[in-house]
Amino acid sequence: MRKLETKTIVVASHNAGKIREIEDLIAPFGFSARSAADLKFDEPEETGTTFEENAAIKALASARAAGLPALSDDSGIVIDALGGAPGVYTANWAEKADGTRDFSMAMEKVEKALAEKGAVAAKDRTARFVSVLCLAWPDGHTEMFRGEVEGQVVWPPRGARGFGYDPVFQPDGHETTFGEMSAEEKHGWKPGDPTALSHRARAFRLFVETCLKA
Ligand code: IMP
Repeated sequence: MRKLETKTIVVASHNAGKIREIEDLIAPFGFSARSAADLKFDEPEETGTTFEENAAIKALASARAAGLPALSDDSGIVIDALGGAPGVYTANWAEKADGTRDFSMAMEKVEKALAEKGAVAAKDRTARFVSVLCLAWPDGHTEMFRGEVEGQVVWPPRGARGFGYDPVFQPDGHETTFGEMSAEEKHGWKPGDPTALSHRARAFRLFVETCLKA
């Protein structure tokens, strides 16, 4: 396991929601972070078939372009009744013909697919959010961290906070969706805290424990 020695990293993402969450998570560690979007790096094509492959593609592209360690996130929602879809294609389900993304449309697609399967009862709507964080160095070394959170897909969407599919995901043990939670409740995590709720916060905790601790 390679430790992170520098205090400057690139957040290898062009997704504003993810960048905000990752910046919140790294703030307590005193890093100076620039995003791939800020640095105007091209967005690499995500040609992998696993979260790990796509996370590595993004982190390596930014690390090589910047000459600095880069932290990427590849994530998605995995719905049991849909055989694991949309999974690694979660962002693609939101893509419109003009190349922009519409997450209301994507959530409707998910609901339509669930209705076609007759998945109406909560027990038939189980799902998990998955986040794989990849820390890559310019020399090609990578470290990978996976976080998951179990829950169910709810309909109609609830809450306008967060991003992406947050309004239709209710984590187990909670009455509110990610879209109704504060940033702190969804992905807040501080060093030493034994718990973290979101998939991204859980993966981040492993990253800290592996790459930042002496
Ligand atoms: P990718 O990792 O860039 O391929 O995109 C993952 C997609 O999954 C994002 O565009 C979001 O729509 C969705 N996603 C990942 N994490 C979250 C989350 O925390 N809340 C809501 N949607 C998410």
